[in-house]
Amino acid sequence: MSRVTTATLQEMKAKGVKSTLLTAYDYPTARLLDEAGIDILLVGDSLGNVVLGYENTLPVTMEESLHHTSAVARGAERAMVVGDMPFLSYQTTVADAVWNAGRYLKEAGAHAVKLEGGRERADAVRAMVETGIPVMGHLGLTPQSVHQFGGFRVQGKSEDAARRLIEDAVILEEAGIFSLLLECVPAELAEEVTTDLCIPTLSCGAGPHCSGQVMVLHDMLGFSGGKVPKFVKQYANLHDVIIEALTTFKKEVQEGVFPGPEHCYK
Ligand code: KIV
Ligand code: NA
Repeated sequence: MSRVTTATLQEMKAKGVKSTLLTAYDYPTARLLDEAGIDILLVGDSLGNVVLGYENTLPVTMEESLHHTSAVARGAERAMVVGDMPFLSYQTTVADAVWNAGRYLKEAGAHAVKLEGGRERADAVRAMVETGIPVMGHLGLTPQSVHQFGGFRVQGKSEDAARRLIEDAVILEEAGIFSLLLECVPAELAEEVTTDLCIPTLSCGAGPHCSGQVMVLHDMLGFSGGKVPKFVKQYANLHDVIIEALTTFKKEVQEGVFPGPEHCYK
């Protein structure tokens, strides 16, 4: 099975074949996603809130991200593995950005990195790409700016904001990104960006017209238990499946049903 590469994704856009991106944070999950044929495994900095119990993505460190990225890379034979660069790992200087991005490929076995932001990140993107590091862009709702946004809400709604987002997308493409993730933007705006750019776009709450679709794994599997954003479709309810298994286990232990003779050594 050949590895999904930046060229594969470009071919898929040309042929009109939709790509799929889900988040993964560990080895067994990476194996499942790979077996199911998911094209891109993103070790999102959603690691912070989804897996590590932080309030948002801001506290995630390079070490935490690399630790989880290497586990995912060990589990993915076909999928492209993308490391999501944490807050402050690429915004300080271009040298920091190149160095930290390179660590994903060098130490964690990732094939690409993702970072948030538009024109203000163009120099960093250019330097990373010149170093040989494929970069995925991320515009719209960029959660590392949650305090600046004053909460999580749809981006690019006004005419000005939409125009700015389109400009940013073009600047990032010119800087060399191989794909662009659009989070929480109106479907029409995402369609326009997808038409304007040559590279594939990925929709995370950005409607059906992008080149591919993105969701946080724990949200789409109903593993988080809590409230999920409007754009998420729950394809399973793992929360209920797991609670059922755990309470049955406890009951059977207390009633002496488990372990049965078949679970015991003679
Ligand atoms: O960290 C994350 O999970 C993301 C989403 C857009 C998928 O960046
Ligand atoms: Na992220």
